[in-house]
Amino acid sequence: MAAKRILLGVTGGIAAYKSAELVRLLKKSGHEVRVVMTRGAEAFVTPLTFQALSGEPVRTSLLDPEAESGMGHIELAKWADQVVIAPASADFMARLAQGMADDLLTTLCCATEAPIAVAPAMNQAMWSNGRTQRNVDLLKADPQVSLWGPDQGAQACGDLGPGRMLEPAALHDLIAGKASGPLAGRRVVITAGPTREPIDPVRYISNHSSGKMGYALAAAARAAGAEVVLVSGPVSIDAPVGVEVRGVMTAQDMLEETERAVNEGCDLFVATAAVADYRPDTCAGDKIKKSNKSMSLSLVRNPDTLATIAARDDAPFTVGFAAETRDIEHYALDKLTRKKLNMIVANDVSAPGLGFNSDNNAVTVFWPEGHESIGPGSKTVLAQRLIALIADQLTEKAGPSGAC
Ligand code: CTP
Repeated sequence: MAAKRILLGVTGGIAAYKSAELVRLLKKSGHEVRVVMTRGAEAFVTPLTFQALSGEPVRTSLLDPEAESGMGHIELAKWADQVVIAPASADFMARLAQGMADDLLTTLCCATEAPIAVAPAMNQAMWSNGRTQRNVDLLKADPQVSLWGPDQGAQACGDLGPGRMLEPAALHDLIAGKASGPLAGRRVVITAGPTREPIDPVRYISNHSSGKMGYALAAAARAAGAEVVLVSGPVSIDAPVGVEVRGVMTAQDMLEETERAVNEGCDLFVATAAVADYRPDTCAGDKIKKSNKSMSLSLVRNPDTLATIAARDDAPFTVGFAAETRDIEHYALDKLTRKKLNMIVANDVSAPGLGFNSDNNAVTVFWPEGHESIGPGSKTVLAQRLIALIADQLTEKAGPSGAC
């Protein structure tokens, strides 16, 4: 790809040290990089570090006559093809969202016409805070701004959750607009979350699925270089960065949307959704009134998305999930054969604190020639290992990317 002129804004956060590696990677790929640091950033890394890596003077102040006599701030704003703020602190995001221009970096963001990518990095509670999220919503609605991350996982302060800055290599690939990793060049379709089967206009049958495992897998597949479509039932999780989410409601919607996504091209299909096996045979047009002492619903079987996709003549490499409470290996292997799958991920949903609606899980993956147990661990870490394992098996069966 063509070399870009990248204006890297570094704000105050422990992840600032990782941006030094980002500068190194960008320079290695032939890009021009100029770094602007906020006062908070200087408390973590010295300007000299970025100057040495970028080969350019680092700007830290708006009202610096010497720096302004070189490349003035308006000139610098015009020079950039792409602005990247990494790490972006909660404070910086608030100021950017409000359109403030109270230091050099926010002034540059006001003055530039280049796209602005923001890579948040902060404590998970700060990220989840309502005021931060309101600023996130403002930035999401800003056509000049893209949010890259944050990632989930262990934080420098010891907390676990969303708020980690994306790794320098991932940011570098996003800037370059290229995908790298074991699933580069593959198209992946994943189902996630519960389905809702309407009883009447205000009631439905559903289950406790949070969608966390499917969303974590989608993020891991994207990080592994894949183009990812996530067909998702109703959940309250943000779309992973770079993943296309297609929302559905019922099992029938899920089948139709998945078939559409698979028809558009699919190398790997992973079904994590907790699809309702049955639906009411009719949905009442009006709210059902409590007129009788008891009532019964007549249920009919829902279509099986996983089995339908796996049965196609042009079936992609297909991975199912099996939630079991006993005889896990026996039932998982039975589903592997019966649904004609390439792999099945089995988990014991009776284990306390794991699986359904939890942040943690432990699974055993079976395929015709082997099996591997993963976890217990966070769904994020588990998803990364699962994707690596699936990518290995996919490459073994279909050959390297582009060969299938
Ligand atoms: N699945 C699906 N569509 C359905 C039901 C299930 O795509 N209508 C997928 C799930 O996403 C999961 C796998 O099938 O990947 C396992 O589903 P599960 O309901 O546990 O298995 P069943 O074969 O339905 O068996 P049982 O419910 O009897 O355990």
